[in-house]
Amino acid sequence: MTVPEGSIPPGDENADLTSHDTYTTGVPHATFARLRREEPVSWVDETDGSGFWAVTRYRDIIEVSRNVETFTSTRGIRLEEMSPEETEARRTMMEQDPPSHTRLRRLVSRGFTRRTVEAYEDQIRVLAAEVAEEALATPRFDFVTDVATQLPMKMLGRLLGTPDADGEFLVSQGDALLGNTDPDFTDHVIDQTDTDEFRLIPFRSPAGLRLFDYARDQAARRRENPTEDIISQLLAETTDGSVLTEHEFNNFFTLLVAAGNDTTRYTMTGGLKALMERPELMDRLRTGDDELWSTAVDEILRWTSVTTHFRRTATRGVELGGTPIAAGDKVVMFFVSGDYDDDQFDDPYTFDLARDPNDHMAFGRGGPHLCLGAWLARMEIRVTLQEFLKRVTSVSQAGPERYLRSNFIAGIKSLPIEVETGTP
Ligand code: HEM
Repeated sequence: MTVPEGSIPPGDENADLTSHDTYTTGVPHATFARLRREEPVSWVDETDGSGFWAVTRYRDIIEVSRNVETFTSTRGIRLEEMSPEETEARRTMMEQDPPSHTRLRRLVSRGFTRRTVEAYEDQIRVLAAEVAEEALATPRFDFVTDVATQLPMKMLGRLLGTPDADGEFLVSQGDALLGNTDPDFTDHVIDQTDTDEFRLIPFRSPAGLRLFDYARDQAARRRENPTEDIISQLLAETTDGSVLTEHEFNNFFTLLVAAGNDTTRYTMTGGLKALMERPELMDRLRTGDDELWSTAVDEILRWTSVTTHFRRTATRGVELGGTPIAAGDKVVMFFVSGDYDDDQFDDPYTFDLARDPNDHMAFGRGGPHLCLGAWLARMEIRVTLQEFLKRVTSVSQAGPERYLRSNFIAGIKSLPIEVETGTP
């Protein structure tokens, strides 16, 4: 079915937001649109007898994100409910509020500023050109595996200071963590198999254990031969003069492997799909100037908004958007819904390469947890698409796309394409 540009995509207005299967056909936009319209802060029951407040309007999400004293991260940040023991064992900086959050974030934040990242552009471009050339050796291939997966994987290795040859191992483990609900990525699908033995490991996944072993080995090497990379930064003193415990180090390392890969991959892929569906915009972008590329990347981020939600927990009774919330209630910010709120964005269902302003929430917004890798991700998306598009004259879809089975990450995990190359 063709959806007219600018209209809400049709679909179930009452989709189950908690079900991983819901997202295997894409983001349930019609449900989010109804919720924003009728019940912007609405209670959702969960099968274990608990439930949460779904916050779907842009301004209410900002309120939750900003007000860290009332909406704490310390009791978990995703829909998955964890016992206090599990929460403690799996805690990273994401599950902390300032000031302990700040202590951890400052260890690595210098490596991710806009200026630091801009210095990598030439290196990223060389890698992106290699990736594009290799993929384009054949006219039909899967954009996800052959292009979108490749660059974030290579860049992660450069940042961590790990050998290029380990890239595939790290990415497959990261995929098993964030794809812990999709049988394509793990044998330990958390809602289908018994993962109790891994309950104290990140994402209840044996991949977490493998990453811990890897991290331990890398740390030992850095202690013998200190380097300038992120792993060495994680081993340095924090602002209060202490160093991370082994447990903190392991969890931090695992967070970095998990956070920066598939999110960037799925955003690039969603961007290419939107462009393939609008060939005139693809042509405009191909010949676009820096300004157009800059707004286009943010529009791709808004449009795809791959991290569907983050969760907080109310520390006191509070009113949100006119709805009373009790202390201890789970409060879930649906960033993917906020990014289509027409109180914030004109014509949100129009893919507008020149959208400006575009204060999207694909990286979060308003709070201390704003994505650490935001500038890196923007650059990877821009440079990968630039190097790819400049080598093709047309790109079309060559088979149905497949979506990740996850209520947390909304991503296209397979996108078969057919390309023509030559001088545009
Ligand atoms: C398009 C790609 C990406 C998207 C959509 C994305 C999205 C997000 C979101 C929504 C948050 C949480 C914001 C909040 O709770 O307010 C976040 C946090 C984070 N992201 Fe990203 N991310 C991406 C790429 C990356 C990359 C490349 C890295 C680094 C290698 C990274 C590392 C992190 C870290 C460490 C955090 C936790 C920050 C904190 O707790 O202070 N992300 N990201």
